[in-house]
Amino acid sequence: MPPTSSSIRFQSERYAEALASFTSAHPDYSATAHIDTCRARDYGRLDVQGHTYLDYTGGGLYGESQIRAHHDLLATGVFGNPHSHNPTSLAATELVEEARAAVLDFFHASPDDYDVVFTLNASGALKLIGEAFPFAADGTYLLSFDNHNSVNGVREYARRGGAQVIYVPVRDPDLRLDERLIRHHLQAAARGHARLFAYPAQSNFSGVQHPLEWVALARAEGWQVLLDAAAFAPTNRLDLAEVQPDFVALSFYKMFGYPTGAGALLARREALASLRRPWFSGGTITLASVQGAGWHHLAPGHAGFEDGTVDYLGLPAVTIGLRHLADVSLDAVHTRVAALAAWLLGEMSMLRHSNGAPMVRLFGPKTMDRRGATIAFYLLDPSSAVYDVQRVEELAGLERISIRTGCFCNPGDGEVAHGISRDEMAECFAEPEIPVTLLDCQRLIQDATGKVPNTIRISLGLVSNFADVWRFMAFAEGFRDRDAAGITG
Ligand SMILES: Cc1ncc(COP(=O)(O)O)c(C=O)c1O
Repeated sequence: MPPTSSSIRFQSERYAEALASFTSAHPDYSATAHIDTCRARDYGRLDVQGHTYLDYTGGGLYGESQIRAHHDLLATGVFGNPHSHNPTSLAATELVEEARAAVLDFFHASPDDYDVVFTLNASGALKLIGEAFPFAADGTYLLSFDNHNSVNGVREYARRGGAQVIYVPVRDPDLRLDERLIRHHLQAAARGHARLFAYPAQSNFSGVQHPLEWVALARAEGWQVLLDAAAFAPTNRLDLAEVQPDFVALSFYKMFGYPTGAGALLARREALASLRRPWFSGGTITLASVQGAGWHHLAPGHAGFEDGTVDYLGLPAVTIGLRHLADVSLDAVHTRVAALAAWLLGEMSMLRHSNGAPMVRLFGPKTMDRRGATIAFYLLDPSSAVYDVQRVEELAGLERISIRTGCFCNPGDGEVAHGISRDEMAECFAEPEIPVTLLDCQRLIQDATGKVPNTIRISLGLVSNFADVWRFMAFAEGFRDRDAAGITG
């Protein structure tokens, strides 16, 4: 039924009231009003096309000005492959080095202490560490259950090297790590062997922010620390003058949307020098000879880790993106998404069917205490049955609301959030030669146990506004009093 003019008036009155009460509860939000101006000017396509974008942890959005600046740079310059001394090559080298300096500057990393290796994405940075970390017998790879699969995947290198792999579980229901366990493991492993401790600064599943203090704690115990900042960096300040992990992995498209083919490994120079690359390639050596099979000299620093030709035309867009984020102000983005997420968490927790049953089950912390603006949940029907997660995504899509569903490449948080035991998971790995997809595994577990190992995630970022979270709540309210069986397409 099309909305009547009185229902539209009612909706806009409700919206105005909600906005007023939101801004009075979050007075610091008003100080970020320039982001509304930026959204109107630089991201107008979002509202013109009626999009509600709630997948910033999946990927950030770029401003049109970033694209124009990049286009203008390419349209007016002449750039050749950097590995030479001719003018066009030197011009490209200058842009690449400008991007490297901009990254160090953005993260307050001293060039004396840190180096930047450009990679394709965060996973590329993590793989570089995995393949080059000196994992060996008596060494340890310690990591949290809460990790992206690209951090989990490093365990294959650890196992191949003979190192022990130790997982620290997250606790249900807040999906945080037990600090006593972390301390125990950090202190229990024998010194003198290569030990790597990996965890995310912010969970891409639950939004939990794990303490950055663990970096210094682990390093004091002789560990090297790999901090996955992919989900943290887009809306939080990572200050490498204060917190000094050995390795930081991130993707730039998550921070400012464009370019998509660039990430970085920020590494303490000393830690980078302790890595052992398993091969060499064009660009990573100072010298190689074919007459002696073992004859090659690895280039020092980042050069030794950037295989072949870097994306020299794409990397200038990193400089432009960092400038854009700094102009908007990362601190303002942080303030803004924290206020919006606090509102969402409150509203989602209060949402009820007519029979009083909750409509939302949140996974992870229910307040903004030590968490970011990424929220994982189910929608529940009046009998507390879970609405089909994929159908919810489809229905959201019909309203141009972009949400994400699945496990977000974070099986550890998913298994704990949904109470899936090791034995239940084992069913999906019973026949190693048959590849079981995530969907197959979810069905297998749901059929066998009635548990629903699938999740909905919404996440906020650079130009999120109150209208976005309001529209999402209006969408969620649309499920009131509907049976889970009744929403199938
Ligand atoms: C916490 C975290 N780490 C690592 C990654 C991997 O990033 P990419 O796919 O850009 O390599 C992601 C991607 O979502 C992430 O959220």
